[in-house]
Amino acid sequence: MSTQLNAIVNARLQGRNGLHRLDISNGCFSGIAAQPHTTTAQEDELDAQGNLVTPAFVEPHIHLDAAMTAGEPRWNKSGTLFEGIECWSERKTTLSHDDVINRATQTLKLFAAHGIQYVRTHVDVTDPKLTALKAMLEVREQTSAFVDLQIVAFPQEGIWSFKNGRELMEESVRLGADVVGGIPHFEFTRDYGAESVRWLMELAHNNDRLVDVHCDEIDDPESRFLEVLAAEALRLDYGSRVSASHTCAMGSYNDAYCGRLFRLLKRAGLRFLSMPTESLHLQGRFDSYPKRRGITRVAELLDAGLKVAFGQDSIRDPWYPMGNGNMLRTLDVGLHACHMLGMSRIDRSIELITENGAAALDLEEYGIAEGMPARCIVQQGATPYEVLLGQMPVLASVRDGQILVRRKASQPEKDLML
Ligand code: FE2
Repeated sequence: MSTQLNAIVNARLQGRNGLHRLDISNGCFSGIAAQPHTTTAQEDELDAQGNLVTPAFVEPHIHLDAAMTAGEPRWNKSGTLFEGIECWSERKTTLSHDDVINRATQTLKLFAAHGIQYVRTHVDVTDPKLTALKAMLEVREQTSAFVDLQIVAFPQEGIWSFKNGRELMEESVRLGADVVGGIPHFEFTRDYGAESVRWLMELAHNNDRLVDVHCDEIDDPESRFLEVLAAEALRLDYGSRVSASHTCAMGSYNDAYCGRLFRLLKRAGLRFLSMPTESLHLQGRFDSYPKRRGITRVAELLDAGLKVAFGQDSIRDPWYPMGNGNMLRTLDVGLHACHMLGMSRIDRSIELITENGAAALDLEEYGIAEGMPARCIVQQGATPYEVLLGQMPVLASVRDGQILVRRKASQPEKDLML
């Protein structure tokens, strides 16, 4: 049974000193006020106990249709992206409607338990039957009480390089996909890749859809589809609705090229999604030593004023056998891998799994402010630094004023018998 709250008390907020009281009415925040002292929570109030309260987590890039299939029908032995696609291609032949619904729902519940209330999932539409897409459209409806789910029509095996690729993408949009995807670096030729980007941008623009392209997910410094995507976003004045996922190749571009590229990226204003755990695992596989990290230039993009968010990408699937749904794990790895453990970066790091993800999803109503839906989480820690140090599951997740998740604080040091 969920509880309707009238307020959250004893909350710490990012960028504000001291404790705060968040009033809630009709499922929305109706007031935010500083509290001079700790207060006792009433029955219809949630006590944040001096912990950090932030907007709910956003998972901006996951593949729910493949979730929980690691090892089926075989394990990815090389650990490469390309063997992952081969394993998935085999598993795809045994997909059923219920199989997709069960695994996707199970994963979304795991995410909800970790304070995620917004998810963008890619769904492979290089399947003549569109089995996974049709199932995911049902999942979107069935899970709407606890998660907002965006569905990307994702051409895993290419648009130009897969039979009827264009028709399958168009049909997916007709059926109700929210976002148009792409995978230009996997197309057979560079020309196919560039053509596919121009085509998918038109498809999205003409149908009022968002865009999220798997772009340059490869260590090849010659993979330069991001410039095509950004130029199209600029031409169509569509940057705030376009996400470039991965852009791993940018980690291998030379600085002179990046200097030119960043000029375009800033003008286009598109969003960036980086999946650090997945990229550390999949990239660098063709290197001996030194081995590249295979991650895009996260700090440099942020410093250029662009929005970057972290996502998990996979959870126990042919590409990545790990994952537990805790965004703090992804954030921790990302900050390490991107040389972002300076305290000013840490202080702002929660944005990478909240606000910046919301910007990528183009969410209009998001954040802790008067009039916004009362959707937030209570973390374990008073500051982003403490939250990151502990990486503990959220203490509470509130959605439209109702408690979705509530758990007791973990205090491992108190369990120690010394
Ligand atoms: Fe992906």
